[in-house]
Amino acid sequence: MTNRPEHIQTFIRIAENLFQSDRLPAGGRLVASRVFERLRTPSDDGKRHRVRYPACEWLDAALAPVLNEPTQIGAAARTIRLLEPDLGWSRRTSGSQGSENYIEGHVHGMICGPGGAESRYDVQLGFSVMAPNVRYPDHSHPPEEAYVLFTAGDFRQRDGDWFDPGIGGGIHNPPSSPHAMRSGPVPFLAVWCLLV
Ligand SMILES: [Fe+2]
Repeated sequence: MTNRPEHIQTFIRIAENLFQSDRLPAGGRLVASRVFERLRTPSDDGKRHRVRYPACEWLDAALAPVLNEPTQIGAAARTIRLLEPDLGWSRRTSGSQGSENYIEGHVHGMICGPGGAESRYDVQLGFSVMAPNVRYPDHSHPPEEAYVLFTAGDFRQRDGDWFDPGIGGGIHNPPSSPHAMRSGPVPFLAVWCLLV
């Protein structure tokens, strides 16, 4: 029993499974299990960052290839579309090595977290969308984080090589560990969760 809006609860349930895939590193599955443990308790202060950014227009194109799939990724994609009017939006405007087009070319959608569809401060569950051929800046943050990729796309951790974990695969970023992501010829979407 929960007093959450249905689509938020549906997304949390599907995402919890996606983040337990053995295609994520063990550390990613572990941090996600702690995030979803906290998400068992709904918490919402009602703040909504509803202002949209240009890259929101890439959301449909990023989800299109998986939208009709009878998979958990497909179900998560369909739920993101249902949640779109309730999401909180933000974008990064600082960091090194970002491509010239990265500010206009990316956006973050918050589902559970500050200003999101369920605005709270103990965890973050959301996603990043990028237009094709965008290199997001190197960045790091104290909260530990895991990603699950919904499209083609590359990640880089510390000074390592770029790699594509594949749709349904993911990565784990330990606290304050530098990382970056980039899109190729198709739009990018990755779902992330952070333990704050
Ligand atoms: Fe990050």
